[in-house]
Amino acid sequence: MINLNPFCPSLHRRISRAARVIWKKAACCPEVAIVLGTGLGNLAKEIKKDAVIPYDVIPYFPKATTIGHAGRLVFGTIGVKKVVIMDGRFHCYEGYSMEQVTFPIRVLRKLGAKILIVSNAAGGLNLDYQKGDLVLIVDHINFMGDNPLIGTNDDRLGIRFPDMSEPYSRELLKLAEKAAEKNKIPVRRGVYLGVTGPCLETKAEYRFMRNLGADLVGMSTVPEAIVGVHAGFQTLGISIVTDVCDPEHLEPVQIEQIIRTANQAGPKLDSLIDSFIHELPHHAH
Ligand code: HPA
Repeated sequence: MINLNPFCPSLHRRISRAARVIWKKAACCPEVAIVLGTGLGNLAKEIKKDAVIPYDVIPYFPKATTIGHAGRLVFGTIGVKKVVIMDGRFHCYEGYSMEQVTFPIRVLRKLGAKILIVSNAAGGLNLDYQKGDLVLIVDHINFMGDNPLIGTNDDRLGIRFPDMSEPYSRELLKLAEKAAEKNKIPVRRGVYLGVTGPCLETKAEYRFMRNLGADLVGMSTVPEAIVGVHAGFQTLGISIVTDVCDPEHLEPVQIEQIIRTANQAGPKLDSLIDSFIHELPHHAH
């Protein structure tokens, strides 16, 4: 968005201010940033914590308004890696612009993180999937009708026309599959289609999306992955299938049910993330 408000500092300056406040509260240098999706907050409870910072003390951070999402940054250690967890994320359906939704991603990059793990609860369009399956995202389709990079480009943050041939790192995907195999965690692969929500999809839309080549549908992740590319992250995307979107046998779903399924599959996601981080080379990133 073009910033016409003379009292609103530039995106670059807002990122720096937010990072400075975080550095004051947590002398931290995370290598890996992890975004937890709907109902997937368990990892943030379990890890060895160095610091916890509520979003509402960080300048320019949006407020988390959605059920199933806390609103805090958790700094800690997994294996030998310093990590920062976004315990609660932002969505376009809350009324936030894509720039606001992805602001924290830029701040996490500013803090020094180079690897971004984005998780989400998603609908399964691929009928080979079952409820509770973990799916590694190989690619996405931006069906949100917007783009977080629209507006004046600040070259300090990234280039004007970022390449999108590999928004999700092949290298990290392979490491995640290796970690999953070692730990006997079944994982699938899939293409994620991002919509704004908040309503779920009609049968005709599910049919249409399957025909487009999507395996998963959800209301997040795409803006973060795009900014991930722009900001120079290597990104790993992981979905948990919370409902099966079979247009010919569609049953009504409720958000409580989606959250329950995400909660149930959460420990599997936690151990995948944990073992993936243990697979990362010690100094290469
Ligand atoms: N559609 C969109 N978002 C979702 C779904 C869905 O079916 N399930 C979980 N998040």
